[in-house]
Amino acid sequence: AAPARDRLRIAIQKKGRLADPARALLTACGLSWRESRDKLFCFGESLPVDLLLVRDDDIPGLIADGVCDLGIVGFNELDEQAKARRQIGMSDAYQSLRALPFGDCRLMLGIPEEWEWSGVDMLQGKRIATSYPAILTAWLAERGIKADVVELSGSVEIAPKLGTADLIADLVSSGATLRANQLKPVEILMESTAVLAGPVDELTDSRAGLMAMLLRRLDGINASRE
Ligand code: PRP
Ligand code: ZN
Ligand code: MG
Repeated sequence: AAPARDRLRIAIQKKGRLADPARALLTACGLSWRESRDKLFCFGESLPVDLLLVRDDDIPGLIADGVCDLGIVGFNELDEQAKARRQIGMSDAYQSLRALPFGDCRLMLGIPEEWEWSGVDMLQGKRIATSYPAILTAWLAERGIKADVVELSGSVEIAPKLGTADLIADLVSSGATLRANQLKPVEILMESTAVLAGPVDELTDSRAGLMAMLLRRLDGINASRE
């Protein structure tokens, strides 16, 4: 078992769509930190709850390894890494505890503007660039489609122009990125929102009480919004 700790550690995105709303939500839960937002580690002041500022893609792994107790991350990223773990026979190491009221987006297929979309069958034999290979592979398999999944960690939307893929599967929020790259959204693979993620196994030391309190405050905030 992981060593006992008496401070709770939460991972949030350092820079990007989820960074500011995640911090604002935790502040609304009564948390405050000594450090400025340039620091990668922020020491909790009002409560023994510290922050780790990281790349969103690293958050599921940090929870799986027990480095962090909680994380605020897109459901898409959490599900991608959970599927990837299952594909190589690993057990689930984290779960979504709460959906959060920000970070809404869709994982979508984007095709060149000049193509006419005639349905999923036209994906047969195509090359699809994505940062979500496990989700895309499962989605294609469910539909009996054989296509090449080209994994890219970033700048996915440029792949069709570069000729490294025919189309893409990527997150769409406003749609501006697709448009800027002469692509159009045609099919939704997944709806996503930010979630509070935590371990599958319950904590047994004093962090358990801290986590329960944080969840209560979060639920209070969500209830008062409705
Ligand atoms: C996603 C996606 C696009 C952008 C689309 O990236 O990869 O780059 O958002 O948004 P739009 O439709 O509003 O233009 P994200 O911000 O999730 O960053 P990440 O890929 O680094 O996690
Ligand atoms: Zn990311
Ligand atoms: Mg991106």
